[in-house]
Amino acid sequence: MMLKSPAPAVGPLTASMFGPDFIWGAATSAAQIEGAAALDGRGPSIWDRFCAEPGRIIDGSNTDIACDHSHRYPEDVAMMRWLGLKAYRFSMAWPRVQAAGHGAWNEAGFAFYDRLIDALLEAGIQPHATLYHWDLPAALQDKFMGWQSREIVPLFADYAAEVARRFGDRLVTIATLNEPWCVATLGHETAQFAPGITDRAAAMQVSHHLLLAHGRAIQAMRAVCKTPLGIVLNHTPSFPARPTEADRLGARLDDGLNVRWYMDPLFMGSYPADVLAHLGADAPRVHSGDHAEISRPLDFLGINYYTRSLISTQQPAPPVPGVQGFTDMGWEVVPEALTQHLARLSREYAPPPIYITENGMANADELIDGRVPDEARIAYLRSHLLALARAIELGVDVRGYFYWSLLDNFEWNSGYAKRFGLVHVDYATQKRTAKDSAHWYRDFIAQHARLPRAG
Ligand code: FCB
Repeated sequence: MMLKSPAPAVGPLTASMFGPDFIWGAATSAAQIEGAAALDGRGPSIWDRFCAEPGRIIDGSNTDIACDHSHRYPEDVAMMRWLGLKAYRFSMAWPRVQAAGHGAWNEAGFAFYDRLIDALLEAGIQPHATLYHWDLPAALQDKFMGWQSREIVPLFADYAAEVARRFGDRLVTIATLNEPWCVATLGHETAQFAPGITDRAAAMQVSHHLLLAHGRAIQAMRAVCKTPLGIVLNHTPSFPARPTEADRLGARLDDGLNVRWYMDPLFMGSYPADVLAHLGADAPRVHSGDHAEISRPLDFLGINYYTRSLISTQQPAPPVPGVQGFTDMGWEVVPEALTQHLARLSREYAPPPIYITENGMANADELIDGRVPDEARIAYLRSHLLALARAIELGVDVRGYFYWSLLDNFEWNSGYAKRFGLVHVDYATQKRTAKDSAHWYRDFIAQHARLPRAG
């Protein structure tokens, strides 16, 4: 069989393809926008440490100021309101609300999120919070080797319960973790991300502790709030680059490590047998009862989708037909893989309602006479929304879409060099400028809002 790229998602996109209650949003995360790294009792995070190590961040930058969102959030909420967003996904920085990751709560840190949530609600924007978007308190890395130790599990559950107790009645959803695959693999196997470790066995143990911490946090939050709870996974569907058995097997294994390693325990109660066999001695230590904790029922599943992976034993992977282009991250643009992948998840796992919690592109944007003409981002948005509409037509229960990101921000080891925002940030002045894509998204959301409502 020849590999075929999925057919391009052409055709008209209309707002009526999405149900009346569909949620339009944008996403950010604490470390990437907040700044105020050392203010008001916030403790250092593993990303502060990582940024301070020479050579880790491409442009040598750090998160100390970022978009200065901790001070400029009123202006950012006003921008969201101008966009017509119905929802905003943000993360809480654990070291801002509990400097050491255990012990005393930091009231000044909680007060910031309290103000942010109130500002969102006043603007008619639903707050959707994520508890862990990678900024682990550095003290936990020092004390326990972070996620490598099982001791972190109850600490995360305590933190989750405290957030749920304080904010559960005002948050529309709470996600435990953002992208555990990135934390485990990029943080502990390839060292591209904090804490910068290169040890596959450690990475797999970390993945298990993350999943267990997720399960415990769900249980702890259920005891104190009625807020819908879930998790956010990054899925990069794997395709064989050539129609060979070797590439097909490679793609299956890659899918096992990225998709099934997390989906199977969450929704089926076990790790995939083929991946366990592949890992051998690097497989994590699992206690009896862990799987029951990990697979507690969820109210929603967050999927972050950017691109696909082409897998080949031939390096670099040979080019395949039908490639539609690449973003400034070098990520291939493949909207159709989103449709296919969502349909597959529904078929194989019968998951709870899905939110697309991240989707977007980095583009080499330029501010020209007060405008950012980012046609490529408009095309990306349009084609991915069409791909999403196709998945909904196929019967996948998708409730909302969050563009990544509201603002240009600190793109982890790429520093400030990659711009994902709907809104351009001039880091020297902190001036925000809505890009052309922001105008496009705003018009699309407004069209959706004008659709006749049944009843
Ligand atoms: C995702 C992260 C997010 C952002 C995008 C581009 O993996 O969750 O913070 O960096 O990629």
